[in-house]
Amino acid sequence: MADKPPVALENRGEGEDGRRYSPSAARNREPIRDVLAPLITAPARVLEIASGTGEHGAFLTSALPHLRWTYSDIDSDSLASQRAWQKADITGRLTGPLCIDASTGEWGEAEGLAQWDVVFSANMVHIAPWPAAEGLIRGAGRLLRPGGLLILYGPFARSGGIAPSNAAFDESLKSRNPDWGVRDLDVDISPRARAAGLELTAVTEMPANNLTVVFLRS
Ligand SMILES: C[S@@+](CC[C@H](N)C(=O)[O-])C[C@H]1O[C@@H](n2cnc3c(N)ncnc32)[C@H](O)[C@@H]1O
Repeated sequence: MADKPPVALENRGEGEDGRRYSPSAARNREPIRDVLAPLITAPARVLEIASGTGEHGAFLTSALPHLRWTYSDIDSDSLASQRAWQKADITGRLTGPLCIDASTGEWGEAEGLAQWDVVFSANMVHIAPWPAAEGLIRGAGRLLRPGGLLILYGPFARSGGIAPSNAAFDESLKSRNPDWGVRDLDVDISPRARAAGLELTAVTEMPANNLTVVFLRS
């Protein structure tokens, strides 16, 4: 049987207990924590879409004790790593993983778990076909409570402008999969978010020409 196509761009390490490690998550988890800490100050239930190795959830729940975090992904290897991180968790505030395909209009168990305070997704919008981003936005609009936040982390173009490093990255993404690519926050993402009841409220520049963007559910 042919190998399944990769879901990430890097070589991920794996420990004996099944927890995987991503070099990029190791680099960006602290800058992401520094943005989230002043933003989410009350107890919050976070649904993560496309949790990958599961490191962001593990690190951010340890760093921010008022977060309860639920993993999800579409990919079986990633789900297995998230299961291993959840098993190793000592905070008692990491749950899941749920199997969620963001591009669908039905997120299974996540639909029934009342309303979420935060939907968080890092590095999926550009490393998945566009319907995954559209579904992520629609799902956040559907499941966030009023006043809840959709938080995205990754590279974005802005109103047609793109940093040279992100333009090169976009080309390399498209050479791997023509359906992947750096999206434009103002042209592609924000109008769809607005239609889903989500207003862009904050954009924070992050290392390596990434952004953390925050949408507020009205
Ligand atoms: C580059 S990885 C990012 C993982 C992690 N969020 C991080 O930043 O390290 C992209 C992730 O998106 C997931 N993914 C791709 N398409 C998806 C979809 N339609 N629904 C949910 N997850 C998806 C992949 O399985 C993979 O775990």
